[in-house]
Amino acid sequence: MTVESVKPRIPEVPGLCEPPLAGGAVPVLGHGLKMVRDPLAFMSALRDHGDVVRLKLGPKTVYAVTTPELTGALALSPDFKIDGPLWESLEGLLGKEGVATANGPRHRRQRRTIQPAFRLGAIPGYGPVMEEEAHRLTTRWQPGETIDCTSESFRVAVRIAARCLLRGDFMDERAERLSIDLATVFRGMYRRMVIPLGPLYRLPFPANREFNRALADLHLLVDEIVAERRASGQKPDDLLTALLEAKDDNGAPIGEQEIHDQVVAIVTPGSETVASTIMWLLQVLAEHPEHAEKVRTEVESVTGGRPVGFAHVRSLTHTNNVVVEAMRLRPAVWILTRRAVTDTALGGYRIPAGADIVYSPYAIQRDGRSYDHHLDFDPDRWLPERAKEVPKHAMSPFSVGNRKCPSDHFSMAQLSLITAAISAKYRFEQVSGSDDTTRVGITLRPHNLLLRAMPW
Ligand code: HEM
Repeated sequence: MTVESVKPRIPEVPGLCEPPLAGGAVPVLGHGLKMVRDPLAFMSALRDHGDVVRLKLGPKTVYAVTTPELTGALALSPDFKIDGPLWESLEGLLGKEGVATANGPRHRRQRRTIQPAFRLGAIPGYGPVMEEEAHRLTTRWQPGETIDCTSESFRVAVRIAARCLLRGDFMDERAERLSIDLATVFRGMYRRMVIPLGPLYRLPFPANREFNRALADLHLLVDEIVAERRASGQKPDDLLTALLEAKDDNGAPIGEQEIHDQVVAIVTPGSETVASTIMWLLQVLAEHPEHAEKVRTEVESVTGGRPVGFAHVRSLTHTNNVVVEAMRLRPAVWILTRRAVTDTALGGYRIPAGADIVYSPYAIQRDGRSYDHHLDFDPDRWLPERAKEVPKHAMSPFSVGNRKCPSDHFSMAQLSLITAAISAKYRFEQVSGSDDTTRVGITLRPHNLLLRAMPW
């Protein structure tokens, strides 16, 4: 992660002390090398050093929060906002005026604009598109064929987000373009965050050219989508209409840049996170044939052998639990950051204004202090009688508080439906050349998952 130099001023508040420095820092680089080399192991080990610990990332001090309770307190406290190196890098590439990076009154107004499209009652309206896309996947795949899970997962995630939220016939071709652009942009963005080589990324190397082309096409696509909707004169009841009709705090229409950045800010996190989770679901179905079989049997008993539909999802208990358990062990969003807006406290420790704070849903959701057999894939731990034993905030893949993902219902519905539709038709096995080890990027996903789809 990019680091910048800050000298935190530690406020002197009686009864509060400075968090301990996590062990293992080396001169000059501090914990930086460990964080770059194996960030998941590094973040997962931090709780052994304290509930809140200081990290040295080069010259910079960063605070890490390691317990479920304190990550909840952090996400719910008004003393912290979205900011810091991760967000600054995202803003530079994706725009400054979208909901994912805004704070304060603008953020509240933007959330009010987008929220209706994601409310629980709106989700059944997306059911037909989700069904069509889930079944389209199973008909695209031929029995025995090798599936490139990265491109297939990206494609379906982008198509569902684009078709449901930005509706329009033109979406099919655009959704394909979006999925290719986004895959390239996310790869390049992560590289730029972890290895901040600044001007070197402007040199005309093939990788830089490919990144710049994809980023430019992403912005162009969004402009085209907005312009075409306007030219059509239509105002369907969807997210794009809500964005186009939104007013600022003075009742004036919001600017073109904000509309543009808003569309980018919704489509980009929406596709990468869902795509990564679909990849892990496919990996889980291949690795745990007993659960794949259990999902298939459940789907068959709920649907009576008919194609699974949106209306069946709420009855698919085991399928839903497979999705949740996959998200526990492989959360797409594995690291989150905040910045203290004031001198404040967390867990009895002093946190100075301006401090950057990190925490890892990956580390929290795999902690043996919160889960028995914490590394086992065990969907039944989400059965109601066992789920109530899970500590509060130990499973928050969508976060909590005012930055909570607006799309939790939207995402869960499509993930369960896709899992059900593909499991009803196929079982999966990895083929040679497949690499399901974890690739750490802006999200977590398998390096290169290649599966053979076998009819049952
Ligand atoms: C925010 C996770 C899918 C749009 C977030 C945050 C998390 C998250 C953890 C909070 C970030 C923070 O606290 O700093 C996920 C996961 C998903 C998913 C795990 C799927 C498996 C989606 C989808 C969309 C979306 C499908 C849109 C189509 C957003 C937006 C925000 C956000 C706009 C920013 C909210 C704000 O700052 O107010 N997501 N997300 N997400 N997500 Fe998602």
